[in-house]
Parts: sequence; C-alpha cells; structure tokens
Amino acid sequence: MKDQAAALRSMVSAPLELEGIERDIRSSKIITVASGKGGVGKSNFTLNFALALQALGQKVLVFDADIGMANIDVLMGTSSSYNLYHLLYRQKSIREIIQLGASGLPYIAGGSGMRELFSLSDRDLEFFASQVEDIAQEMDYVIFDTGAGLSRENMKFIGAADECLIITTPEPTSITDAYALVKVMHGQENATPFRMIVNRVEDEREAERVAEKIAGVARRFLQTDIPLLGYISEDAQVVKAVKRQMPYSLAYPNAKASKDIEKLALRYLAVPATPGSGTLTGIRGFMNKWLKRTT
Ligand SMILES: Nc1ncnc2c1ncn2[C@@H]1O[C@H](COP(=O)(O)OP(=O)(O)OP(=O)(O)O)[C@@H](O)[C@H]1O
Ligand SMILES: [Mg+2]
Repeated sequence: MKDQAAALRSMVSAPLELEGIERDIRSSKIITVASGKGGVGKSNFTLNFALALQALGQKVLVFDADIGMANIDVLMGTSSSYNLYHLLYRQKSIREIIQLGASGLPYIAGGSGMRELFSLSDRDLEFFASQVEDIAQEMDYVIFDTGAGLSRENMKFIGAADECLIITTPEPTSITDAYALVKVMHGQENATPFRMIVNRVEDEREAERVAEKIAGVARRFLQTDIPLLGYISEDAQVVKAVKRQMPYSLAYPNAKASKDIEKLALRYLAVPATPGSGTLTGIRGFMNKWLKRTT
C-alpha cells in the first residue's frame, strides 16, 4: 500500500502531460459541507450555495457524498442514470457520470459507489484520483455534500478538503454536535480550516449569538478560531421549494433565504478562508491528504 500510495502521490503532484504539452493544473478549491446533527440543512445549503456561486461566474461541481441518500437528486427532482459506481467499475468516465441539474449545475451522485470508495484497491484509487483530477482542473470549486455526524467517511472528506463549512441551526443539540465535530477534527495533522454557517435563524443577531457560542468554546478549549461565514433565515419558502423539488433560490429568488445565500456567496468570494497548515491545496492536496489517512 505504501509504495502504491507514494507512486500516486508523486503522480498527483506531477504536471499533466497532454499530447506533449505541459498544462498547468488549475487549483480548484475543495469544500466539504458538514454538520454534527442531521437534517440541519446541508444539502439545501450545498445546492443553493453552488447555484449562487455559479450565478457569480464561478465554475462549480457538486459531489453528493452522502452515503445513505441521494439528497441532491431529490432536491432537484432529478434522478441520476449514472453514479460513482459506474466510474469505479470502469463502466463510465468521470465526464459521463456528471449530470446537469437545475441551471445546468454539474453534479456527481455518489450513490452506490460511495461505499466502494473507502475500500478501493491501490489501482482503483489511482484511477479514481486521475479521473477526479481530470475534471477538477476545469472547476473553480468542488463542493462535497456529506451525511451528518462523525462517520469515518465524513471525517475523511472533511480531513482531505481545503476548507470545511459547518452548518448548524440555533437548536442546542445542533450546536453541541457541531462543536463535537470541530473538536474531533481539530488537532489532526494538517487540520482543515472550518467556517460556520448558521441556518434557520430569526435574524443576524441570532446567527452571531449561535456562532459565538461555538467559536467561544473553540477558542477557549481548542485555541482555534471558527469564523462565522454567514447565515440563512428560517424561511417557509425553503420548505415549499423542497416539496416542489426545486432549489429555493431558483423557485423563489426573492425569498429571504435566497437573498441570504446570495449575500453569503458574495462574502465567500470576498473573504478567503484562513489557510490550514498544509501547503498543497486543490485536488492534488485533496488526494494527498486522502491517501495519508489511508496509509
Ligand atoms: N432555511 C430554512 N428555513 C426553513 N426550513 C429549512 C431551512 N433549511 C432547511 N430547512 C428544512 O430542513 C429540511 C432538511 O434540510 P436538508 O435536507 O438540506 O438537511 P441535511 O442537513 O442535508 O439533512 P441530512 O443530514 O439528512 O442530509 C429541509 O427539507 C427543510 O424542510
Ligand atoms: Mg443532506
């Protein structure tokens, strides 16, 4: 495993040769969206945030990495003919498993391939890495929507990303679970920087209060900063859009939640994350970190 992993590491950090022309690999940013507690709004956030970034001229790929459910498909009323499984079993290329959702948003459904991803042979892992690298170089952002909680799989996605956006609501259980997630991930070598998003708030003040609860404890006990990136209002239009299987920012562009997500995306582009301690970012860094935690 070690030799193979080393080979892959050097492969992902070598410049791509294409028909004799050396291309620069564009460093797309890899974001993982996570939460401690389930059902706090990760998938809705991922989808609408990706659409908002896309509307601002960014190239975004969404990857539905929830092992249990095809969240992204359900939220758009789409169903993927192909998923990660078809890629891992060499039935389709990565370009063929990319689906186009609402507003032409490209996304990959993990589907039944998600479980395989964590038990790949070295050869298959190499293949997966090269395929992901192939597509990621065309993107500005690759956003992984994960399932809730501290599963091994989620920790892997969080640990390998350039940045983790952690979603909480103002409910105490959601706050304590968000902190638990930060605590576990914190202190790992090359730790991923976190930023917080408070969903379903009454107003900005509530978002700040909730964020400070988590940030305060993290500062005190973990000596780490978890800045608030933004918030999304509690909005009945979100529920309506979910029932209609349409992203709320497209179904109700004037809804409070839609305005909030637009503001949040603008802020995201304006205020970069505090870099982690690692040097490599983008898909190369992602694969390096992924492998490091396998070996
Ligand atoms: N801003 C909001 N205002 C009102 N309701 C919301 C808001 N955000 C999410 N919801 C409600 O919460 C539900 C769950 O949202 P979502 O599926 O995005 O959560 P999740 O964190 O991805 O869940 P899971 O952990 O199961 O993957 C939505 O179907 C909707 O009813
Ligand atoms: Mg979800």
